[in-house]
Order: sequence, then C-alpha cells, then structure tokens
Amino acid sequence: MGHPIIHVVRDADVVAQQAADIVGEVVRAHPTAVLALPTGRTPIELYQKLGVRHRRGELSFAHTQIFNLDEWVGVAPASPGSYARFMEEHFYAHVDVPAPQRHIPNGLAPNLGVECERYEKLIRQSGGIDLAVLGIGSNGHIGFNEPGTPEDSCTHVVLLSTLTRRANAYAFPRGQVPHRAITMGIGTILDARQILLLAVGSTKANALTKALFGNVTPSVPASFLQHHANVTVIADTAAAMLFPRSSAASYS
Ligand code: GLP
Repeated sequence: MGHPIIHVVRDADVVAQQAADIVGEVVRAHPTAVLALPTGRTPIELYQKLGVRHRRGELSFAHTQIFNLDEWVGVAPASPGSYARFMEEHFYAHVDVPAPQRHIPNGLAPNLGVECERYEKLIRQSGGIDLAVLGIGSNGHIGFNEPGTPEDSCTHVVLLSTLTRRANAYAFPRGQVPHRAITMGIGTILDARQILLLAVGSTKANALTKALFGNVTPSVPASFLQHHANVTVIADTAAAMLFPRSSAASYS
C-alpha cells in the first residue's frame, strides 16, 4: 500500500509549475526516460511550461520515449479532437521529441484488439514507463479507464460513459464525440515506476477525494493508485476542497 505525496497549491499555474519541475527532474536524471502523458485541459499549462524550459535550453526530450495514455477510436490523427493532434499542438510542436519516439494508439487500426496488444508490447519493449502523468475524470477515470475497469487491465478498447463523452464534447465539432477509445489499462499505468496525478478545479473535487481517501474500488478507477508505492498528487485548492481535515496533504 503506498502513501501518495499530496501537494495542494494555489491555482492551475502552480500545479503546472510543480508538475514541470517533476517531469524535468525525471528527464534530467534519465535522458532516455519513458513517459506516459495525458491529454485534456489539465496538462495544457504543464506542456506550455515544458516548452518554455526547452526553449531556454534547460530541458531536452531528444532521447525520451513518449506514450500517450489513450486515443479515440475512429478519429484520424489530423482531425479536430484527436489526441494525436492535441499532442502535436500542445507539446510536440514546442519540444524536441523525434517523431519515431512519439507513440499513441492507432484508433483507425483495422483490428483494434491487435492494436492494443501492439501498444502494450511496445511499452514493455521500451523498458516500461518511468513516469506516468495523469489527469482525472470527474467520475474518477484515469486515461479512459471508466468505472468498473479491473486493476490488472492492459491496453484495451473502452466504451465511454455518457458523462465522459459529454465532458469531452467541447473538443469535437458539433459535439460529435466518439463512443469508443483505446486506453492503457489500469495495470499498464500501475506498472509505471512513478506516477504524477494532476487535478484542477471543483469538478474534480469529489472524484479526487474518493480516489485518495476512499476505499480502493473499481467504481473509482483512480483509487487503484493507492496500491502504487510512488505517487505524487498536485491539486489546486478547488480540487482539494473536500479533502478531510486530517489529511496528510501539504498546503502551499
Ligand atoms: C479525458 C482523458 C483523460 C483526462 C480527462 C480529464 O477523459 N482521456 O486522460 O484526464 O479527460 O480531462 P480534463 O483535464 O480536460 O478535465
């Protein structure tokens, strides 16, 4: 059973700064680090800060391998809403990851089961994930591991909940959100040597509090992080507003 290190900070800007410090430390210590990275609104400021640090010459990703947590099924990489495009716009355009070292599930693969196996195997062949950076869905999902996903799951195809599809409608023209996605499994994520969970805003407060202080249960997928020995959580005060008073979180 792990004891997550929990930092509660003023706002999204400080969340991103502290997250960039941790990513920077990992990459400087291991220039060939394997990173799992998320999409969504939460990590955008983190990617901006990593881009700035790279431009200043402080940080290079030239020898890292990057694996996205997930991708929509049926969305071409160049289409609006695709996570491949998100990563290009928010991260890859601003840092120096060579194209062959950027990995994302192929949501257009003719055989999605084979694609999931390929992705899982590639992660293993790369030596496993050194640092997985995660956001959290308002229903407690990580990657696209919806409530009910087993702890030992590998990369798989998921049928998305209405709540998750609604939360992502902003990224798709006319709100036409795909029904399915490919995601690293909870087991894939828990195999990472280090995990960094980011949460910003009051819509995450309930899920984050249950994940960190509630029972470990498949109905809150992020609660499985309690089984990992090296988890750091950085939350803003809004996301942390329901934390129990006695929690071991550090406030700054
Ligand atoms: C999507 C992604 C998750 C992300 C979540 C929260 O479901 N697959 O990886 O954590 O959205 O996104 P946001 O940061 O926009 O709240």
